[in-house]
Amino acid sequence: MSFSAAKWRDRFPLLAAHPGLHYLDNAATGQLCEAAFDAVTHHDLTHRANVLRGTYRLAEQADAAYENARQQVATYLNAANAEEVVFTAGTTAAINLVAHAFGEGLGAGDEVMLSLAEHHSNFVPWQMLRARRGVVLRILPLAPDGRLDLARLEEHLTPRCKLVAVTHASNVTGAVTELVPIVSAAHAVGARVLVDGAQAVQHGPVDVQALGVDLYAFSGHKAFGPTGVGVLWGKAEALEQLPPFLGGGGMIGRVTPGETTFAMPPRRFEAGTPPIAQAVGLGAALDWLQAQPWADMHAHTARLAQRLLEELAVLPGLTFLGPRDLRNRLPIVSFNLDGLHPHDVCQVLDRHGVAVRGGHHCAQPLMDFFGVAGAVRASLAPYNSEADIDALLAGLKDAMRKLG
Ligand code: ALA
Repeated sequence: MSFSAAKWRDRFPLLAAHPGLHYLDNAATGQLCEAAFDAVTHHDLTHRANVLRGTYRLAEQADAAYENARQQVATYLNAANAEEVVFTAGTTAAINLVAHAFGEGLGAGDEVMLSLAEHHSNFVPWQMLRARRGVVLRILPLAPDGRLDLARLEEHLTPRCKLVAVTHASNVTGAVTELVPIVSAAHAVGARVLVDGAQAVQHGPVDVQALGVDLYAFSGHKAFGPTGVGVLWGKAEALEQLPPFLGGGGMIGRVTPGETTFAMPPRRFEAGTPPIAQAVGLGAALDWLQAQPWADMHAHTARLAQRLLEELAVLPGLTFLGPRDLRNRLPIVSFNLDGLHPHDVCQVLDRHGVAVRGGHHCAQPLMDFFGVAGAVRASLAPYNSEADIDALLAGLKDAMRKLG
């Protein structure tokens, strides 16, 4: 299958309806693809019922659609089986689930290792766990380009470490984490590895078995699916060892006034009515993405990102956050223009039809590392084109004239 960014863009209803929009905020949310849009509408028109409760035909159709979505997610992640897929409200909910369920087994002196590049979603739940249970947080430092400093891994990953929680790719610098050495060092000390895959899933199928990780979290909306749904994938034996986090309907074995036994995963972690139509939409999005020509799409976004890096580099007073090359990096580029506030820059860009995020990007420890309060971030998806980069660059030059 050959790839055309313009044809791909047409498969995204909002973008197709707004030809003048230069949407470059894909790290915040990907646009909803037609496949997901259609699947959600079809589900709500034909199979809408609660799941795993009803015995009438409509409810059984809803069950089948929901479990089919679980299988579609499992296929995208190359999971060993669909029962390893837990639907959550998003990456944040998935990480909080692990912080509570896995954290339940931790006590004072146990260690959790993070990195300084984490999104707040992968910092705050662990700081809250530290307050509850007295665990020690070890923070892996960064090399000057913002990549995880793997030379310091041994120093921070001690035999007391029970869990390593790191990002698959930074939402600020786009730097992709080298997971292989981290996983092997973590497993050597008996620690589990949880990966925040929020950014990575948008850029093609992920192979959790090849990565060798234990737990993997991501959000549907970043993978061109609906908002309000996400996934915690876990190896079967890792999930089976975890107690439930939220209690309620659907996650039980048997309830008496005195006590409750719990269902096996994934249901143990899906208390209450799950985001059913959203899960169906996410499954459809991933099913569609799975069949896309990713090698061509990566070459396309890398070409755009390369041009962006080169043309930004010659703007006076511009500084990058993170690597300046594309090696092992997603097409996410963050930068500052000397003396200009990122929010002001974003407002001028908005007048050019360019949507980018400016601010701390929910990564204040990383901002502190770079010595800035915030940055402008352009994050590319395969539907982006040279015209989007042209508009961004023209808008930045206008911002420098107006605000400088
Ligand atoms: N995590 C999202 C971002 O980086 C919201 O913008």
